[in-house]
Amino acid sequence: MLLDIKQLEKKYTDKQYALKNITFQVAKGEFLVIIGPSGAGKSTLIRSINQLVKPTGGNIYFNNEDVTAVTGAALRKLRSRIGMIFQHYNLISRTNVLKNVLHGRLGKVSALTSTFGLYSQEEREKAVALLKTVGLEEHLYKKTKELSGGQMQRVGICRALMQEPQLILADEPIASLDPKSSETVMSYLKKVTEEQQLTCIVNLHQVEIAKRYATRIIGIRAGEIVFDGRPEALTEEAIQHIYNQPAATQADNKDWPLVHGGEAIYG
Ligand SMILES: Nc1ncnc2c1ncn2[C@@H]1O[C@H](COP(=O)(O)OP(=O)(O)OP(=O)(O)O)[C@@H](O)[C@H]1O
Ligand SMILES: [Mg+2]
Repeated sequence: MLLDIKQLEKKYTDKQYALKNITFQVAKGEFLVIIGPSGAGKSTLIRSINQLVKPTGGNIYFNNEDVTAVTGAALRKLRSRIGMIFQHYNLISRTNVLKNVLHGRLGKVSALTSTFGLYSQEEREKAVALLKTVGLEEHLYKKTKELSGGQMQRVGICRALMQEPQLILADEPIASLDPKSSETVMSYLKKVTEEQQLTCIVNLHQVEIAKRYATRIIGIRAGEIVFDGRPEALTEEAIQHIYNQPAATQADNKDWPLVHGGEAIYG
């Protein structure tokens, strides 16, 4: 199993679980989309996998290695096998497209190589080939700040692929894009995942897009998995279940003052 998450738990503060009892496995080749309301824990989950967030309980096995137990050089090595795609692209705006993609090699090459930009001919060819796959061959030497959002995210995909990852994590990769660019970016992401036999985990807010591209969907609500299945199984009822938070009762909120007309009343 590529990824085996067991009883994962995260508490940022003592009061509330951001994630609770999260258990699932991901096999090679899956295109897994995670959906859920704002604050459900989607980013926390994705960021726990490469340890940008430190879980407070449970284990995450990536190729049978517990990522929650590794630090230092071992963690850097592990991260180099996991590509990350961000909502706001995280590109170097004044640097050209090709160089931004080559930066994906940073986890693999020596500090000297990265400082002086001494990438091999083979690496350059690979970067160009990747950019061709996502339709950006015309823009190799353009500064990334001159690109559209959709084009920037395609550079982001190439940069992630440049590190030859086994797993790609994407946290709302299309949240800043218009519908047409969103489709383009999702199509390319799906295409490269299939062609290169990768595995991809994507956080999305758009349920319709999730249904169209995912091989599997996980729904989280208030830090817990409430749906895990094939896109066809995600019925209207299931969607309601994921997104409709139970109305907070007065009893649930008894630690908090209820404000009426500016006056706090303790329930
Ligand atoms: N650094 C942090 N410190 C404290 N609490 C945090 C932190 N990051 C997230 N949280 C809390 O953890 C919970 C889950 O947040 P998370 O960002 O994972 O949700 P999300 O599903 O990604 O939401 P969104 O759809 O808005 O991106 C929320 O209640 C959030 O307020
Ligand atoms: Mg998020």
